[in-house]
Amino acid sequence: MAWRNSSVEYGSVAKLFHWRLFVLIVSLLAVGIFMANQTFTPEIFTLYKWHKTIGVVALVLVVGRLIWRFMSPPPPLPTETPALEKWAAHGTHFLIYAAIVIIPVSGWLMSSAAPFPNLIIGDIQLPALIEQNEEASKFWSTVHYWAGRALIALLALHVSAALFHHFVRKDQILRRMLPGRLKGTP
Ligand code: HEM
Ligand code: HEM
Repeated sequence: MAWRNSSVEYGSVAKLFHWRLFVLIVSLLAVGIFMANQTFTPEIFTLYKWHKTIGVVALVLVVGRLIWRFMSPPPPLPTETPALEKWAAHGTHFLIYAAIVIIPVSGWLMSSAAPFPNLIIGDIQLPALIEQNEEASKFWSTVHYWAGRALIALLALHVSAALFHHFVRKDQILRRMLPGRLKGTP
């Protein structure tokens, strides 16, 4: 399978980014919601540190993914796709990209402004992006919360669309993003 995207299929690098980030982001959403609803114990504090660590790794991967997307543009949708559907697909992808940048950056800003050390795994301190300030920390926490909820809604739409293409339309849209071994015969 080619590394780069072709005019009909995603290449291995784009697929690798898509599915690695899928695992990281779904775990971050689940762990984030779980830990934010627990009383603060040393175990939950460890979970916070893991959440932040994986969150920063996700941010690095998102930046890498966007750079790669610029270097190797995605395959266009089939020409027969109705204009409204193309618009919906591009709009959803754009909003997902916006959310997966805004969420880790707002998390980092919230934790930088919070009145305690911003620790990740191994007690490494993340460099502060802004000064400590309770109001700012609350603001970025709200952004983190709502962008996270918006991402969940967008992903519900995104996954439904992918499954609709595969099982109802029976076209190649899902297959062209699947790893080679899962693609099966067209
Ligand atoms: C793509 C990456 C990330 C995702 C999807 C994500 C998602 C979430 C979600 C869904 C919550 C629960 C919010 C709630 O229900 O109150 C949460 C909480 C939290 N996240 Fe993240 N997060 C990410 C990255 C980060 C990063 C990079 C940091 C900090 C460096 C961070 C710090 C926190 C903290 C401190 C909370 C506790 C809740 C709060 O005080 O608002 N997150 N995260
Ligand atoms: C955390 C979860 C996910 C995120 C953040 C995500 C994000 C994205 C983004 C941003 C794109 C656009 C790629 C580009 O053109 O640059 C994309 C494409 C795609 N995603 Fe996902 N995705 C997720 C989960 C899934 C799942 C679970 C499925 C399958 C059920 C799926 C199926 C697809 C397919 C088929 C495409 C290609 C659409 C096309 O050919 O135009 N995604 N995804």
